[in-house]
Amino acid sequence: MGEKSIPFRIGDYVAFDRIGKGGMAEIFLARTTGCCGAGKKVVLKIILPYLGKIPSFVAALMNEAKIMERIRSPFVTQVADAQVRGEDAWIAMEYVEGVDLHHLLGLFSKKKLRVPEELLFHVITCLLQGLASVHGLRDEAGRPLDLIHLDLSPGNVLVSFAAEVKLCDFGVAVTGDAARILAQSKEVRGKLSYMSPEQAAGLPLDRRSDLFSAGIIFWELLSGRKLYSSSDKDKVYQMAAEAQVPPLEPGRFARQEALEAILARALAREPAQRYGSALEFLDAVAGYVRARKLVVSQLSLASFLEEAFSEEILRLRYERERVMSMLLPVEV
Ligand SMILES: Nc1ncnc2c1ncn2[C@@H]1O[C@H](COP(=O)(O)OP(=O)(O)OP(=O)(O)O)[C@@H](O)[C@H]1O
Ligand SMILES: [Mg+2]
Repeated sequence: MGEKSIPFRIGDYVAFDRIGKGGMAEIFLARTTGCCGAGKKVVLKIILPYLGKIPSFVAALMNEAKIMERIRSPFVTQVADAQVRGEDAWIAMEYVEGVDLHHLLGLFSKKKLRVPEELLFHVITCLLQGLASVHGLRDEAGRPLDLIHLDLSPGNVLVSFAAEVKLCDFGVAVTGDAARILAQSKEVRGKLSYMSPEQAAGLPLDRRSDLFSAGIIFWELLSGRKLYSSSDKDKVYQMAAEAQVPPLEPGRFARQEALEAILARALAREPAQRYGSALEFLDAVAGYVRARKLVVSQLSLASFLEEAFSEEILRLRYERERVMSMLLPVEV
């Protein structure tokens, strides 16, 4: 199939909105073709047309689906179905009705709004719970898979308007064995500016690499800016390898020394000095939230998001619905 023009039918779905495009696949909002068009909204990750001819790329997408299928967590995007038909291959997954964290932070800065502390801590605690499920994954025989996400970045953290937070994009995730081979091949995977120092140096990786990337996301949430910011790729590599982390703006948070201590541990250059697991990292953040007596309620965050971004929300929702209502019925 050539370039897809919307709407189009694929398998049992009608795709009606293009949400994003990555190196390997395009992301569409779609509906299942239920009775009278009363289908459920899903997201389809469809292999790029020219890659659908190459078996190794199709296999990689199906592998991503297999990994996602195993992870049962409210903090990880759930997969519904994955199929290969001719040169088409796709994953159908739950639609997280909202925006990714990169986009969300952009909305805040566009509106010159400060992100509420409760939201910052909500996002990092959900993200770490998702990560704990990823790292704890086991095979059918109950053996640990030592799965590493390898591409934790704000674009791969979805935040719904109901304030749910879910990890997505397991396109470059690998198990422990593959991570060792990867290190030898020095193949670059994941976003440069969220890489751990060992990833940037092409050294063997384990889950602590993901914990470092989560640490960068936490640092950026707290400081409201990027940690490694440069348009020069080599410079970003160098910064990632050196892992120099500036302190937060003084006096920005109550009990800031406790936060700095959490960041220092999460972003230690040496993996051995970091938290040993996502749960350990999570415990530290939860301890801080408790000490501050911060009340993090998903319901109130959801109403905050609705109120702050209702314009964007409505534009997104209504535009998509409008296109939807125009497209049915679609010829097979
Ligand atoms: N289930 C979903 N619900 C809502 N939005 C989604 C969903 N999955 C992906 N998206 C959106 O599509 C974007 C791209 O998805 P994903 O990261 O899986 O694709 P990708 O091809 O790996 O892209 P990239 O190479 O840019 O990382 C996400 O950043 C997010 O904005
Ligand atoms: Mg992505």
